[in-house]
Amino acid sequence: MKVRGSVRPPGDKSISHRAVMLAGLARGTSELSGLLTGADVKSTARVLRQLGADVSSVRDGATVTVHASRISHPASRLNCGNSGTTARLMLGILAGQHFAATLTGDASLRRRPMRRVTEPLRAMGAEIEETGGDALPLTIRGGRLRALTYTTPVASAQIKSALLLAGLTGNVGVTIREPYRSRDHTERLFVHLGLALHERAGAIVYEPPERRGVVPSFHLSVPGDASSAAFLVAAAVLAEAGELVIENVGVNPTRTGFLVVLERMGAHVERVNLRDEGGEPVADLVARPAALRGTEVSAAEVPTLVDEVPVLAVLASRAAEGSETVFREVGELRVKESNRLELIAANLRAVGAEAEARGNDLLVCGTTRRPSGPVDTARDHRLAMAFAVLGTIPAGSGKRDPPGHCDRRPGRLRQELDGVARRSPVGMGAPRLGSPVSGHHARRARQPRGAGSGERFPLVRPTNCGARGGPPGAAGPRGRRIPARGGRRGRGAGDPLRARHAAGL
Ligand code: S3P
Repeated sequence: MKVRGSVRPPGDKSISHRAVMLAGLARGTSELSGLLTGADVKSTARVLRQLGADVSSVRDGATVTVHASRISHPASRLNCGNSGTTARLMLGILAGQHFAATLTGDASLRRRPMRRVTEPLRAMGAEIEETGGDALPLTIRGGRLRALTYTTPVASAQIKSALLLAGLTGNVGVTIREPYRSRDHTERLFVHLGLALHERAGAIVYEPPERRGVVPSFHLSVPGDASSAAFLVAAAVLAEAGELVIENVGVNPTRTGFLVVLERMGAHVERVNLRDEGGEPVADLVARPAALRGTEVSAAEVPTLVDEVPVLAVLASRAAEGSETVFREVGELRVKESNRLELIAANLRAVGAEAEARGNDLLVCGTTRRPSGPVDTARDHRLAMAFAVLGTIPAGSGKRDPPGHCDRRPGRLRQELDGVARRSPVGMGAPRLGSPVSGHHARRARQPRGAGSGERFPLVRPTNCGARGGPPGAAGPRGRRIPARGGRRGRGAGDPLRARHAAGL
């Protein structure tokens, strides 16, 4: 495939959520352009409407206006859909309110951990009632909060942001330390709006004004999403020739770890036209094909690329034959929209690459073998996009297996990726980068449970690139066959993903 031309990724999801929320807390009318129009941001807008903010329709190309005065008791449950950011940040906002509200979400969101946010909010004085353990639905009654100094157990921007928003709505001080620096969009937006936030001795400190402050209304142009740009960059890196310009991308260093890792892997992505949008650095990226080598991604780097691990793992599988990439301490991936850690490894194996989740690390071996085999992405959009990128490489057998199904945000970005490949004058012609798995299978697809459930995909064998015989199912060292399904029985044995491995290899 040859790439050329320029593309624009959709608006940054993290900034979009925060912009709508802060506009919902502001007095007056805010205008937001370039917002992401995906389902998650729509969930945030819908929840704010239920709380009394007047949020105009979130659709492509439209400037969204948010008119707010004071948020108030919702008439019904607040449904956060599939969006962890909506749920966790809204808990922070609600902690400072004098009314009760119940938050819930879809089946996937209802499996995701919430105590990481509710515990420190309780320490601030919020009353939170659980109905099903460490998960939604939750009923929160906020009110008089006290100041909090807190070290987060995981580097999570969602925890940090929830606490800062609680400090803002409850008008109390918050000091947060995190093991590694996570994305800092909330901090930047606070500073941009003149709210008293600063860094002191490595901690993020919010100091409330003497008299309860008012969030000013604002205008914001949301930059393009670095995480979405990562898929387009990856497609260009895997191409045979050409150059792709990805315009208007947020290049906040707490989000662009994937560019740093790519550089180490041998792909230099240029940043041109560097500028500032509402306190966020923005640039155009110029990506070209490159020969990749394996690397080690440290635990400190992980928060800066946490959503890019799937696509980086896909790229790592295309690194030089036998070179190994290790992602350290990526256990958090188990509690994202799906169990991404196990699914990345399982799907890479399903297309003939070698990969393994070992403890909290992910190991991937490079191969030049053409990827072929079915993948199942458990309706997780980042997995679907990552494997759609792999789908830009022609399958060795000439047979193209569909990347997995994703019914969330399939729209523009997937089309852009399709378009990037379609403009290719050589190679694959006009490939389709993602056709849905059958409805039957999509319905049956079950998401692996989070850490602690004891449910694991089988490990094929210890990864040690170069010291093995081939993909799962192929003849292994000394002629032994490596079982495609790991040969283990028990929990998960009926898992549709596992069944598809067997069928595809
Ligand atoms: C997000 C933070 C990250 C990220 C998620 C969006 C945010 O989650 O994975 O997609 O907008 O704050 P964690 O903060 O839990 O790592």
